[in-house]
Formats: sequence, C-alpha cells, structure tokens
Amino acid sequence: MSEKKQQVSRRQFLNYTLTGVGGFMAAGMLMPMVRMAVDPVLKESGHGGLTNVSLAVEDITTEPQRIDWKIDQVDGWYESEVSRSAWVFKDENDEIQAFSPICKHLGCVVSWEGNESYPNEFFCPCHNGRYYKSGENVPGTPPLAPLDVYEQEVRDGMLFLGDAIPREEA
Ligand code: FES
Repeated sequence: MSEKKQQVSRRQFLNYTLTGVGGFMAAGMLMPMVRMAVDPVLKESGHGGLTNVSLAVEDITTEPQRIDWKIDQVDGWYESEVSRSAWVFKDENDEIQAFSPICKHLGCVVSWEGNESYPNEFFCPCHNGRYYKSGENVPGTPPLAPLDVYEQEVRDGMLFLGDAIPREEA
C-alpha cells in the first residue's frame, strides 16, 4: 500500500471534522428535547401517597361507614382530581378495615346492607353480588374475589388512606 493512499486529504479531514462537530451539536440539541418528552413518563405518577380522609379514629365504629375524598392525580403531564370512596369500620379485633366499594365482578358500587334480604353483608345491586363483612365474596354470587383493601395509616388520631390493593397482595 502506498504512503499516498494512507494520507487524509484536506477535503476528507474537513468532512470528518464537520460531521463529528455537527453530530455532537445535534446530539446536544436533541437530548433536552428527548428528555423533556420522556421524563414525565419515567416519573412516578401521583399514586401511592396516603391522604388524610378527614375521619378521626375515635369516630370509626364497628358499623361500616362510607367515606369519600379526593386526591390530586398526576399522570405524565395530565393532572386531575380523582374521587375515591371506602367502607371503613373496626373489626372484631378492633382493627380498622377500609374496603374499596368497587365490586370485583364488573365494577359497580357495593353498599353495606344494600339489600334487606342480606343483613350484615355488602351488596352489589348490579347482579346481586354479595360479600361478607370481612370483604370476602360470598360463594355462588357473581364476584369471584374479595373487595380490595386500602393501604392505611393513623397519624395524630386521623385515618390516612392510600391505594386500594387487591386482597391477594394486601
Ligand atoms: S358488578 Fe357487582 S355483581 Fe356484577
């Protein structure tokens, strides 16, 4: 191979240099744009925090009571206010229970003693779904899983609730 062929011409040198510098500048401009586009998706959404649901622990009885509250939900760039509800009571061990009212059959809203034929149960009017007070679904009725359970914490005598977790994971 001759020595002449191994030399880089001025034109080639300029081509390499300009391509390299141009690529570097393009990457510098594109990176912030890509990051801005992807960053909200990578961030954790507004789920997961516990919210004060304005219910004092001393006001929680053994009778399930329905409470409603709102949370600010951030999903990517979209912020919204979302309503949540729970059935809250103290069980026979004096432990606080907070169940999602969303029926595990097709998502209707269950109510406590919603049907006088089934006292001491949660009842879903859509397809006569039934749940024991423990939240377990009554066998032979449409729901095939227990009601979800809210994450909970007591702070300064007030009840804080988080996300509703399917019973298997609770
Ligand atoms: S949605 Fe509740 S029983 Fe069907």
